[in-house]
Amino acid sequence: MNTQQTEAPADNVRAVQWTDGRLKILDQRLLPARVDYLVLSTVEEVAAAIRDMAVRGAPAIGIAAAYGAVLGAARAWERQPDTWRREFQRQLPLLLAARPTAVNLRWALDRMQAAAERCQAYPVDALLREATAIHQEDTAANHAMGRIGAEYLRNSRAVLTHCNTGSLATGGFGTALGVIRTAYSQYLIDTVYASETRPWLQGSRLTAWELQQDRIPVTLVADSAAAWLMQSGRVGWVIVGADRIAANGDVANKIGTYAHAVNARHHGLGFMVVAPVSTIDAATADGKAIEIEERKSSELLEYAGIRLAPAEAQAYNPVFDITPGHLVTVLVTEKGAVEAPDAEKIRRLLR
Ligand code: MRU
Repeated sequence: MNTQQTEAPADNVRAVQWTDGRLKILDQRLLPARVDYLVLSTVEEVAAAIRDMAVRGAPAIGIAAAYGAVLGAARAWERQPDTWRREFQRQLPLLLAARPTAVNLRWALDRMQAAAERCQAYPVDALLREATAIHQEDTAANHAMGRIGAEYLRNSRAVLTHCNTGSLATGGFGTALGVIRTAYSQYLIDTVYASETRPWLQGSRLTAWELQQDRIPVTLVADSAAAWLMQSGRVGWVIVGADRIAANGDVANKIGTYAHAVNARHHGLGFMVVAPVSTIDAATADGKAIEIEERKSSELLEYAGIRLAPAEAQAYNPVFDITPGHLVTVLVTEKGAVEAPDAEKIRRLLR
């Protein structure tokens, strides 16, 4: 296979944009049927967009929250310039509480709070600069991870990915999908298998759509077909993102990731986790300490408002799981790759 770099990998989708003092969000609940945007101007609206998953994906919700903080500061200053800081502080917990598992949300809001503390007077310009920096740094990190991760994919032909980790889930380009974009542009892989990602269907609704926008061949499989796919020899690597990585290398990611990791190990395949260092939570010792979000049972019991399960059926709907670090072949970050990650190697990476 030709391994020469061609043109820059295509990347035409943007989940989060700041325009004319407002936050424009591609409403991911409607994809792929409709491409429609929400234009948000208050903290409450941004918190609701994150909670209801109009915007989703760990880095993207951190970026949306950062712009939400700018909207909060603007409103607070408009109402009461003398006491804007107090009102601003009251608004941040609303954003923080929108979703519990992705640490990027807390990380981005900590940065916004620190920027606010440095402001002597009118805060909005400085806070917008900080939010824009968070956004741009994320996209740059994704390109760096794309280059680092693609190096591992020589001669693998095809990969399996889970959930959506692309431009829809980040500032742009994507984490796992960034590696996939880069590897595809370098002719290292020629197709991508995406597991549908029950119950919210990030794989079939979002990843398939996003890859189609960029003309990267994608083949969907049911989540339950993944072990069989791996056994068939059609994929060389499983590549996923992360919502939070504990200090010992345990990975919280979309429900179903753990099963993919166990299956990859069983079949002797590589299991790659791609995440910026902002996803590493050094204050959380291991996966057991990570809060796993549970969402409403209707996500399982119904689809698009149509009841699938019998009327009295109950459902348990954890939307993330923990993959033990020892199942990870390589953790790819913008600061470099960590093979067989553990507490010591992660400490060294963050130093
Ligand atoms: O519930 P979601 O869609 O927000 O979950 C997203 C994921 O689990 C992604 O894999 C993760 O955020 C990494 S995205 C770069």
